[in-house]
Amino acid sequence: MYKDLEGNTAIVTGASSGIGRAIALRFGQEKMNVIINYLGNEQEVQQMVSEIESYGGKAVGVYGDVTSEEDVSKLVAAAHDHFGSLDVMVNNAGIENEVPSENLSLKDWRKVLDVNLTGTFLGCREAIDYMIEHQIKGRVINISSVHETIPWPHFLHYAASKGGVKMITETLALEFAPKGIRVNNLGPGAIDTPINAAKFSDPEAKKGVESLIPLGYIGRPEEIAAAAAWLASSESSYVTGITLFADGGMTKYPSFQGGHG
Ligand code: NAI
Repeated sequence: MYKDLEGNTAIVTGASSGIGRAIALRFGQEKMNVIINYLGNEQEVQQMVSEIESYGGKAVGVYGDVTSEEDVSKLVAAAHDHFGSLDVMVNNAGIENEVPSENLSLKDWRKVLDVNLTGTFLGCREAIDYMIEHQIKGRVINISSVHETIPWPHFLHYAASKGGVKMITETLALEFAPKGIRVNNLGPGAIDTPINAAKFSDPEAKKGVESLIPLGYIGRPEEIAAAAAWLASSESSYVTGITLFADGGMTKYPSFQGGHG
């Protein structure tokens, strides 16, 4: 636990499932105030609010689509109205779908870019604008992916969006370092969340993914949340503009393991 996070206010987008949910709950354990942005199940969010309160944190669920300027600005307003601050912005909402690139429709391309890239841009812009106005040395954490660097056939739009998120992070880190605002990417490897449910329900496919991970197992959302808490905390005070890969070593050429190659 990071003592300095207690009482800080965070927004987590797409927080009603998977990695976003784990980050929101971890922030609750840190006794933070959390705006739980969701697009789906409100009941699930109410349970999360209760869980966060049981840890000594505070939380409010706010419905909103990260591709809408108005909705994203409402998230920041909700942080201000409920908790009087915004210290940590986590742009987590993301989608993917598998399509061979020669068949990738413009509609699918736009949808994935809209959520993953434009949503991240809007979240960064609104949060940083607020932090500057209120002179907060805030932290922005963008949930990228190993696919900001590993090419991913059949997921062209997804890989392009995450490559874009990397440059959003690096550019903003440079632009706002003089204000003391830190902007970092968190790049998960293969994590057991609903986005992968179909893939991992097939034991052969799951084994195939595991073979790409030097540590040998699919990560848990809580392991990504732990990295997010560190990036949010002052323990990472000298870190900005990086991608922290939490990927079991996936980005380190696992096929060379054991001296192959
Ligand atoms: P997930 O499907 O459980 O979570 C995605 C969340 O985003 C959902 O709660 C969904 O409702 C929300 N969302 C989608 N479109 C939205 C919109 N327009 N506005 C607001 N919320 C929206 O999947 P997961 O795995 O938790 O994904 C979270 C992030 O982690 C994504 O950005 C994903 O690309 C990234 N990631 C996940 C990996 C994995 O293996 N699970 C690996 C690398 C990155």
